[in-house]
Amino acid sequence: MGMRIIGWGTALPEKIVTNADLEKTLDTSDEWIVERSGIHQRHIGDSTAEIAVAAGRNALALAGIAPASIDLMILATTTPDQSIPATSAHVHHELGLGGGAFDVNAACSGFVYSLVMANGLLGSGAKRILVIGAETLSNVTDWSDRKTAILFGDGGGALVLESVPDEGQLLSWDLGLDGSAREILRADHGGFIQMDGREVFKRAVRVLVDSATRALEQAKVRPDQIKLLVPHQANIRIIRAACDRLGIGHERVALVLHRTGNTSSASIPLALVDAIDHDRLEPNDLVLLTGFGAGMTWGSALIRWQDGPSPMPGAGASVDRRTDLDEREDDD
Ligand code: UT7
Repeated sequence: MGMRIIGWGTALPEKIVTNADLEKTLDTSDEWIVERSGIHQRHIGDSTAEIAVAAGRNALALAGIAPASIDLMILATTTPDQSIPATSAHVHHELGLGGGAFDVNAACSGFVYSLVMANGLLGSGAKRILVIGAETLSNVTDWSDRKTAILFGDGGGALVLESVPDEGQLLSWDLGLDGSAREILRADHGGFIQMDGREVFKRAVRVLVDSATRALEQAKVRPDQIKLLVPHQANIRIIRAACDRLGIGHERVALVLHRTGNTSSASIPLALVDAIDHDRLEPNDLVLLTGFGAGMTWGSALIRWQDGPSPMPGAGASVDRRTDLDEREDDD
């Protein structure tokens, strides 16, 4: 038993904050932000539940299934709307889902953790699972701190998964954590994100490459067989360095970082759905999702793409279509 992806959707708050907007309040510049991070703008606003509901609704609509037919919903978020209850309770109610729901906090690796968990549950009785990654990092960002305010944004992405009798689309995975590094990226209750950027950067490249390599080795797949790498969207330089070490060409990377900033557990589904909407995947293509985040957590999942339902007409049409790394380099 395994999983098949039958629907996908995203949501971004309407309000856009550009680098030029940040220049007005911070001692920074568009040039510095683009050169050091690759980010041009980010979306800000709404609650985590509102974003998750919108992304989940879009994914369910595309799958063409009744919300009540969902057995379980997993919400990956590191920015819940409150401590108790889990934000998934609100989302479950608003969407009218069946079965249970819970939150997962594995920081920016949360979506991959949730996907792997969902795959296991689909193999042991669940029929349909909705996995959502949704974040409002703007609520835990100190907008007067130029070291972090330039990086983060809000958004969400979702996949609808169905159980299939064969191996399914998830071929291999790798999840990990080094809790000794928990202090380098943190936010206390009621506080803002504190980050040792350089240390996170250094470790990020290493754990991304190691985790992706383990997932590839498990499935006996070579890097050159990967059609699309979908990395956590944190920093263009981290992504480029990881690609170069893995031997994956920059043109084979899904990228939304330039227009979303770092949206933690929402970043991988946002980038994956963007690639789907831009017809970058064909049946049997191998897709490698790989992320890292606070904890420090990391996670990779190797997927064999299958045709799901056709994207709705116009889906993604308004989006900046320049999605590969080399084109971004031209911009930088
Ligand atoms: O989801 C995981 C979350 N986090 C990450 O993945 C973050 C990983 N780290 C990074 O992305 C990068 O470390 C940053 C983008 C945060 C920073 O880039 P950097 O190239 O590592 O810069 P830096 O921290 O080494 O700072 C270089 C200089 C410093 O000035 P001095 O000491 O050389 O005079 C900073 O004070 O740039 C200065 N600086 C800025 N200047 C203009 C730091 N932030 C800014 C800014 N605008 N926003």
